[in-house]
Amino acid sequence: MVDKVEKKIVPGMHPDLAYTLLTEEEIHRKVAEMGRLLAAEYRDKNPILVGILKGAVLFASDLFRAMQVPASIDFMAVSSYGASTKSSGVTRILKDLDQGVEGRHLLLVEDIVDTGLTLRYLRDYLEGRDPASLKVAVFLDKPSRRKVEVKVDYVGYEIPDEFVVGYGLDFAEGYRNLPYIGVLRPELYQ
Ligand code: IMP
Repeated sequence: MVDKVEKKIVPGMHPDLAYTLLTEEEIHRKVAEMGRLLAAEYRDKNPILVGILKGAVLFASDLFRAMQVPASIDFMAVSSYGASTKSSGVTRILKDLDQGVEGRHLLLVEDIVDTGLTLRYLRDYLEGRDPASLKVAVFLDKPSRRKVEVKVDYVGYEIPDEFVVGYGLDFAEGYRNLPYIGVLRPELYQ
């Protein structure tokens, strides 16, 4: 059972947001919970967390710290939406891993799975590099928008079909450093 979110109006939230979906406290609680679960799974495996830039940079860093087991971290960058809120379905690798991963346990860490196209591409790509294992952790899941089936092993929260920003997620490179997650006022991107 994946936790669902509730809309809330939080005093002092960014004026471009229609409402908040996850507060800073809810985010921290969930990351700590996922960290404990993953620590048990990876205790003796010295995994490599593979964070996807730029959206997952905050989640990957927080999860890495929350896991408290021997592990390393690396990052990949793939082409993103740019200034649009709809997926182009095109994915290119802009930055590859810094190290060989053959025989290593990999945990792919992504901010959000929407259509599934990005994760599908990355899963296939990393499987092709012969890791000992490959699992996927995402903070947010928008299941209603899926275009391709993709296995996700760990999910933070399920969210409705809304464009969200904050905690690493952007719109036109803005809002990534909000410590909470909210929905932009539609008039700002329509
Ligand atoms: P997918 O390939 O459609 O699953 O999209 C994955 C990528 O799209 C994520 O890594 C995000 O960078 C971006 N994305 C999808 N939904 C949102 C959103 O609601 N806000 C911000 N970025 C999003």
